[in-house]
Parts: sequence; C-alpha cells; structure tokens
Amino acid sequence: MPGLILGIESSCDETAAAIVEGGERTLASAVASQIPTHARYGGVVPELASREHLRAVVPVVRAALAEAHLNFADLDAIAVTSGPGLAGALLVGITYAKALAFAQNFPLIAVNHLEGHIHAALLNERESAQPQDGGAPSFPRFFAERVGEQEPQPTPDEPALALVVSGGHTHLYLARPVHDSWTYNLIGRTVDDAAGEAFDKVAKLLGLGYPGGPWIDALSLHGNPHAVPFAFSQIKTKVHLGGKPARTKAAKSAPIANLDPHFMFSFSGIKTAVLRYVELHHLRPEAESRREALFTGPEAPIKPTLQDALAQCEPQTLDLIASFQHAVVGDLMKKTFAAAESLGVRRILVTGGVAANRELRSRFAAEGSARGLRISFPTLALSTDNAAMIAAAAWPRLLAKDFAPADLSADPSLALGR
Ligand code: KG4
Ligand code: ZN
Repeated sequence: MPGLILGIESSCDETAAAIVEGGERTLASAVASQIPTHARYGGVVPELASREHLRAVVPVVRAALAEAHLNFADLDAIAVTSGPGLAGALLVGITYAKALAFAQNFPLIAVNHLEGHIHAALLNERESAQPQDGGAPSFPRFFAERVGEQEPQPTPDEPALALVVSGGHTHLYLARPVHDSWTYNLIGRTVDDAAGEAFDKVAKLLGLGYPGGPWIDALSLHGNPHAVPFAFSQIKTKVHLGGKPARTKAAKSAPIANLDPHFMFSFSGIKTAVLRYVELHHLRPEAESRREALFTGPEAPIKPTLQDALAQCEPQTLDLIASFQHAVVGDLMKKTFAAAESLGVRRILVTGGVAANRELRSRFAAEGSARGLRISFPTLALSTDNAAMIAAAAWPRLLAKDFAPADLSADPSLALGR
C-alpha cells in the first residue's frame, strides 16, 4: 500500500497542508502562518484565525500538491485535525477536508492534534533512519508485517514517554505501540498555564514580540541563567485546580486526582514571580519603551531583528530572560526524567512549539545521554504546528481502516488517551 496521505491542520493560528507517504516520508509540508495578523493583539484572536484559515486553506493545499508534484488523484486519503483547538478554526479545516473527501471519494481520517505532535517526533525518527543515498526507505518495524514487507530488525517498537509542550499544552503521555497503532496514557500535565503560554506572557510583559518563545530563546543566550534563582514548588499530594473551575472540558475530564503530583506542572507561579521582579527592580518603564521602539512606535522597524531587540535590553533584563528560561526548562526536565524513571521507559519524545527551544534541546539531549536514554525531537520546522504530523499520525488509521464518520465535527476540548 503506497499510503499517500494529505494532512490538513487548522486548530490554532497556522493553516497547514502536507503530504506524507506511509507515515514516514514527507513529500511536502506547507504552512501559512497567521503570526502577523495576531501579533498586534499579543495573542490569537479566534475570529481572525477562522477568517485567515478560510483565506489560506485552498492555496496551502495547492502549494503542498505542487511541492510534491502530485494531483488529487494520486492521493489515498485525507487526514484532518478534529481537536483540540479553536472551534471556528478547526471547522474550516474539517469542512474543507470533508468536501474534498466527498468530491474525490477519499477516506477521511480524524486526527487528535496532540497525537499529531507526538507523531512529529516519531516521523523525524523514521526519516532519520532512512538511507540518505536516495535508496528505498525501510518501513517502520511495527508496520512491516501488515504491509507484507520484510523488515531486517523484527524487534517491537519501544514504548516512549512523550512530553507535548506547546502554547496550549504541557502534557506527559506514555505512548505504547500496539499492533499497527499507538495507545496513550496521560501521566501528568499542567494544572494551570502551558509552558509556551508562560513564554508568551513573560515576553509580552517585557515588551517583546508575539509569539514570545523565539524571542526569549534568542535573547537568553546573552544573559546569565543563574542570575535570578526562580524556584518551582512541588505540587502536593492532592491536586486541585486552585479552587477555580477547570477552564476547559478537557481539563475537567482529565483524571487529575489520579495523576502522580510529581509529574504535574504549574507555570502560572513563575509568570507572577517575573512580574514581581519587574516591579521590584523598576523594569516596567524599560519594557514599555522597548515595546514602542520595537513594535508600536512610529520608528519601529517593519520586522525587528535580534540585534534590534538586544539594543533595547539592559543586562539585568537579559539575565531575567535567561534565568526564566533556565528555570522552565529545568522544571520540564526534572518531571519528565522522573516520570521516565518511574515508568521504566528508555525513550523520550519531546515535541510541540516549545521543543524548538535551544536550551531545552541541548539540556534534554545531555541528560538523556548521561542516563542512557534515547531522546527524540521533531525537526525545528515540525516542532510548531504543521500538517505533516497530522498525515503521519493518520497512517496507522489508514492501515486499520479507522475512518471518520460523515458527520465529523470539531471537538475543541478533545482529550488524548486515558
Ligand atoms: O505547537 P505550537 O506551534 O502551537 C500550539 O499547539 O500551541 O506552539 C506554539 C508555542 C508558543 O507559545 C511559542 O511561544 C512557543 O511554542 N515556542 C517556543 C519557541 N518556539 C515556539 N518556546 C520556546 N522557545 C522557542 N524557540
Ligand atoms: Zn500544537
């Protein structure tokens, strides 16, 4: 089975289309980013996101087909993100995918966005394992039997601990290969903000751009990560959502009380600690003038560069930025490696937008090699939202003929696993 899947992703602020063959070879990946639309508001505006998806979805699919030198008739299936995400944004991708599947008589496959992120890291593992000389790619072990190919190493694929760390999620899953597919168990998650949300909020507070992660990542190289000793307090045995109602249906339905508190995250405290530091050291006027010089003022450059931002940052601010990032990465590492040890897994996948962070990549890789664990990331391009991860996650479903119903709709709070 050739398995050419067109993936479509529109859950947040990127409209993306990609074509992946057999869950392991990316033939095309096109992403239309809405960052310029949302940047002036400092965050994603749902109504604008839906409008931009409507504009971009057809051109982005055309771009993916052109990049792969394929026509619709060459495809075997359409995969689309059905949740979690913004309802209106998800609906654009789903409606388009349904119409295309109907018109071309393709099977339609619904994919959970979080499972997609996990498959971005798996896809990179598979692509890296392929021969670089243009020879025929080897099929992944767990698909080989099903498609009738001979696989040289018949050992079963290993379970992995997956840290999905993005603007909307900080979740730990135990991912286990079962027959052609994967099952997921929720091991831990944030009780409040996602790690990417903390990057975005701290960047906004400091007068930096949106999304904040890439700015903090770049500027942190110029500060002292040990200057401000931020500390994360250990979540106690009983985990509550701070007395507040859970913000999403997914948060309500997650069996939070049953999760080990050692693997739970909380990022709202460090955001407040940064705010307090800014107030205490009178850094707010500097942040306001930075915002004006870089983004809102009459002299602001059209596209501010790292050098422009550096020229607007005092050493104390750079130290604050570096210390914030160091603390967040340290906390992500501490809990992820503790969970891996407790579960006895030898393989960790780190994925989602924050997995693009340089300090995170180098520290996870170093700790993994010290402990003899295999650490995988997606490529940088596939760390943030994309459609190749959706097409890759759909491949086991195509093999299993696990197709979406004709009345597929968006599920903004779709949970993954149990
Ligand atoms: O996966 P993603 O594109 O969208 C969601 O599913 O949320 O992740 C976006 C998030 C944003 O919060 C952004 O600030 C963060 O990923 N991010 C980074 C970096 N690049 C993107 N955070 C830290 N360092 C980066 N280099
Ligand atoms: Zn995402």
